[in-house]
Amino acid sequence: MKKRLFSGIQPSGDVHIGNYLGAIKNWITLIDDYDCIFSIVDYHAITVEYDPRQMQKRIINAAAVNIGAGLDPDRCILFVQSQVPEHAELTWILNTLTPMGLLERMTQYKDKSRQNEKNVNVGLFDYPVLQTADILLYKGGVVPIGEDQLQHVELSREIARKFNMRYGELFPEPQHLLSDAPRIMGLDGKTKMSKSMDNYISLIEEPGTIWKKLSRATTDENRKRRDDPGNPDICNLYTLHKYFSTETEIDKVNRECRSAEIGCIDCKKILSDNMIKVLAPIREKSLNLMDKPEEVLEVLDAGAKKCQEIARETMGKVRSLMGLR
Ligand code: AMP
Ligand code: TRP
Repeated sequence: MKKRLFSGIQPSGDVHIGNYLGAIKNWITLIDDYDCIFSIVDYHAITVEYDPRQMQKRIINAAAVNIGAGLDPDRCILFVQSQVPEHAELTWILNTLTPMGLLERMTQYKDKSRQNEKNVNVGLFDYPVLQTADILLYKGGVVPIGEDQLQHVELSREIARKFNMRYGELFPEPQHLLSDAPRIMGLDGKTKMSKSMDNYISLIEEPGTIWKKLSRATTDENRKRRDDPGNPDICNLYTLHKYFSTETEIDKVNRECRSAEIGCIDCKKILSDNMIKVLAPIREKSLNLMDKPEEVLEVLDAGAKKCQEIARETMGKVRSLMGLR
């Protein structure tokens, strides 16, 4: 039997190349080796302020882009978290096993509290416990994520261990899996690429906008003039070349940047052309699906149905181990 794999993505904005390189691309390569469940985690997304009128569209778009990028729903389960109420139920139970002190240490909570000073709600604090419930509800043993989620998966291991010790062996201790691009920086070169910042390239970005965004992106800041030699080792765009350009181009850009044979604009043009080429089929398939929301919803409903069954069974075992009936 294949090991169960679980991961999630928030419907909180445009899916970007950081999500793709850090998570989705990896998910696609793992799809045949594991029994995979992927979730559009809307309960996580409501921990910060959002527009309810936009939520359905965001959920459909997130699903469409994941499928458009290659996440084949015939070979995995794709579903919306809030369609399986057991996520909230298990969260409550796991809350009773989670020391507040552990949650206070979560860097994402600290960052988001700073960014949302007027809305530091209990849900934001409890976010990692909901994430743990997501994984454990399906007995997920493997969790492919970007680096920013490492601390949350470590916490899920601790909570699983606690449950097993207190009530009896039920859950595996989830192991994280990082891709070869665990932390893609934003176009400013300073902060992580993120949906909530104006520093990303969306997976369905228009070709013209890709070029516009890249042409303004930060490179090696020590390179002041065209004739100065550059240092690819500290250039965020050189890092991106590694995921979009050929070996030969990467070598050439590396050499010719150091010798000032090419300038940043030349380097950006090559990157932009390649990125546009790589993203074109993803964009086309995603936009196509967005035009047929009923098809996407059908996939999500079928996914939720399968998840409901697994979740009900797990909750039955949880309740019985805990003496709740
Ligand atoms: P989110 O958009 O926060 O729901 O993230 C979905 C997945 O993408 C998670 O596994 C994140 O760790 C991953 N991810 C988000 N931003 C980045 C980034 N800049 N670089 C690499 N992975 C990322
Ligand atoms: N919190 C994750 C993020 O923002 C998304 C997520 C929710 C997740 N539940 C999960 C990831 C369970 C892995 C496993 O990226």
